[in-house]
Amino acid sequence: MTGPSQGAHGSIKAGVMGWPVDHSRSPAVHGYWLKTYGIHGTYERLPVRPEGLAAALRSLADDGYAGVNLTVPHKVAAMTIVDELSPEALRIGAVNTIFVTPQGRLKATNTDAYGFITNLKNSAPRFDPKLGPAIVLGAGGAARAICIALEDAGVPEVCIINRTIERAELLARDLRKSAVVAPWADRATRLKNASLVVNTTSLGMKGQAPLEIDLDHLPPEATVTDIVYVPLETPLLAAARLRGNPVVDGLGMLLYQAQLGFEGWFGKRPEVTPALRDHVLAAG
Ligand code: ATR
Repeated sequence: MTGPSQGAHGSIKAGVMGWPVDHSRSPAVHGYWLKTYGIHGTYERLPVRPEGLAAALRSLADDGYAGVNLTVPHKVAAMTIVDELSPEALRIGAVNTIFVTPQGRLKATNTDAYGFITNLKNSAPRFDPKLGPAIVLGAGGAARAICIALEDAGVPEVCIINRTIERAELLARDLRKSAVVAPWADRATRLKNASLVVNTTSLGMKGQAPLEIDLDHLPPEATVTDIVYVPLETPLLAAARLRGNPVVDGLGMLLYQAQLGFEGWFGKRPEVTPALRDHVLAAG
């Protein structure tokens, strides 16, 4: 990681590139930390069309940026533009954080796996990854980072269940240890013996259909988590909470994945606190 690089007026610049980028909550997260730690810096929304990504990344050094986050649709495309990829970015096959070195090189990494597992450990301290299988619903980019995080944490079996089973099979093949795949229609019965259930699909998000899944087979001590955080309590989490399962909402993953970028750009390891959560929720 690079140290912070100072802009023209001693202020450190970072931001998030996406198209569209209006929805991103990252400016609220980094803005809060900049203010809290009294750091002279900025974190902006940077709307960049897909066809303009290479030029936008290449001009970061000249424009005095310490680095950027990437969001939809740039996470995979950036892989072939940057100068260096971290082992995490290579394994996940996507980039979400870029550091500009003092020499102007672009070093890229992916902090989603770290964000997911750190949130889970902090929000469900009694969850022990080694105790049983994890059920991962979905097989997109987010699922890939989460499956890798779970494998690295020592989960004995990751069961990937996706509407399009071929995508689940592709993901399972890329994992280091044995992952299993099950058809979407079996999602309820597969919950038997699970120690963790993760929804990585967009189902349950505001404006989308809820995730339909019968939790009757799920052991009462299994942890249930969702990467959707609008609403904070998805229908899945509400149903799990009602039957007494520990639940972890999706906002924490967003907050923890931001820590590594902030530290690299602004030179301070920031804390995830209840006040930060409140600030990001209020920012809408
Ligand atoms: P991300 O990078 O955020 O994971 P993605 O790659 O578009 O986004 O993946 C979205 C996930 O939600 C996929 O697993 C998708 O299933 P398919 O691979 O079958 O498309 C899942 N998903 C989206 N809408 C769904 C629906 N109506 N029913 C079931 N799964 C759905």
